[in-house]
Amino acid sequence: MEYFERHEGGERAILVHLDIRQIQDPDDLDEFELLVDSAGAQRLALVTGSRPRPDAKYFVGTGKAEEIAELVREHEADIVIFNHSLSPSQERNLERLVECRVLDRTGLILDIFAQRARTYEGKLQVELAQLNHLATRLVRGWTHLERQKGGIGLRGPGETQLETDRRLLQTRVSQLKAKLDKVKQTRAQGRAKRQKSDVPTISLVGYTNAGKSTLFNRLVDENIYAADQLFATLDPTLRRLDWQGVGRVVLVDTVGFVRHLPHELVESFHATLEETLEADLLLHIIDSASPDMHEQIAAVKSVLAEINNEVPVLNVYNKIDLTDEPPHVGYAEKDKPNRVYVSAKANLGMAELSLAVQQLLTGTLTVFDLTLPFGAGQLKNALYELGVIEEESYDDTGHERLKIRLQSDKLKQLLGQASLSPLDVLPLAQATLLMPTLEPFEQQIQADALIERELEDGTLAALDLSESNTSNANDDSPSHDDNS
Ligand code: GTP
Repeated sequence: MEYFERHEGGERAILVHLDIRQIQDPDDLDEFELLVDSAGAQRLALVTGSRPRPDAKYFVGTGKAEEIAELVREHEADIVIFNHSLSPSQERNLERLVECRVLDRTGLILDIFAQRARTYEGKLQVELAQLNHLATRLVRGWTHLERQKGGIGLRGPGETQLETDRRLLQTRVSQLKAKLDKVKQTRAQGRAKRQKSDVPTISLVGYTNAGKSTLFNRLVDENIYAADQLFATLDPTLRRLDWQGVGRVVLVDTVGFVRHLPHELVESFHATLEETLEADLLLHIIDSASPDMHEQIAAVKSVLAEINNEVPVLNVYNKIDLTDEPPHVGYAEKDKPNRVYVSAKANLGMAELSLAVQQLLTGTLTVFDLTLPFGAGQLKNALYELGVIEEESYDDTGHERLKIRLQSDKLKQLLGQASLSPLDVLPLAQATLLMPTLEPFEQQIQADALIERELEDGTLAALDLSESNTSNANDDSPSHDDNS
């Protein structure tokens, strides 16, 4: 970063936030203050006001600009931060007047990203975004100076320096792009591997500060950096985990969204967003205690729409410890949950969350009562790995009985892999759920054949037909009657 100075945080800042009537969706003041804190700046004073439209020279009016300059002197501030986008010339005019660094909202967000970048790719992306942001400023700013210098006949070294800087900047941008391409390829290979391994990927997305890292940590049970700051997580963080009740998944934590994300970042962080695109399910974490909840939901939705995301979304209303909402699952239609109310911090609603996730990932869930034949260890292991066993016991004959909650297709597949037929492990009524749909007369023939077989084997008496089997026989008769 030898081409421009990077703000290191811990700076003494004057904040500027205006109500501009022309701007329909102004940036929120609370969020601005949180962003400033996240950047590590110290808030010394806040300048507010309102204008019908921004001033061309200073963004604020001349009087207000002088007031800011006065505050800078009074507080010995070393930075002025605007909660607005400034044009390069406004930034420069202001810097000249207030005699310290001026940062606009884009610069502020870039700075936070720069401080939070952890992985190699994240760092490359931030640097690229910063250079792109700088490029316009450098060129236009210097053009402006050039003209001035030209005017007073002072060409030469300055211009040479500008040429050098531009060239260095271009070289650096090309280098960064080449490196990023390489990283992307490697990342794509990783994704291909994951897809082949048939492990569903779940991405946590959400507005910054919604609680993604907190939930991620709770689910992964691993202490990843979570702080009451924006962008505590920057790079996608991936974890493979065996989620009780859901099974094996890859969980992806992503960067927090903010409204009006600088376009430099939207482009640079495309890889991060692509990561969310690859998922089987998105958990949209929402800060349900925030007064801006609806705006934040809308901001996340619009970014997802921008990148054409069509992955199913489960809304996770977090922080219910601060609201009166009890933990529960909300359904769009039967067996199709669309929202869950939880508190990641207070550990509320986690069972509800895993239930909803499992339903969305695997479709309708059914409770099955399995009786395992001896030597069915492979099947039991598979069920364990999926985390779908709810109860375990033994019947009188020493066979293991398991109560499981699972999608019927999945169970069918597992039984196939273990070379077992549904009738080997399930009571008839449940076994038929896994059989191809039969005509009623076929069902009756099958039921009769089964009874015949059991009678022949002598197993019927010996096993003293379990209650469920007896009731199956009864269950079948009305359907037979219906058809007769
Ligand atoms: P970014 O990294 O900025 O995108 O934030 P994030 O969405 O990952 O949020 P993070 O997990 O860092 O949480 C932000 C703040 O909210 C932290 O102070 C958490 O302790 C707090 N928080 C998270 N979940 C809950 C919750 O259920 N209840 C309460 N009261 N606070 C929570």
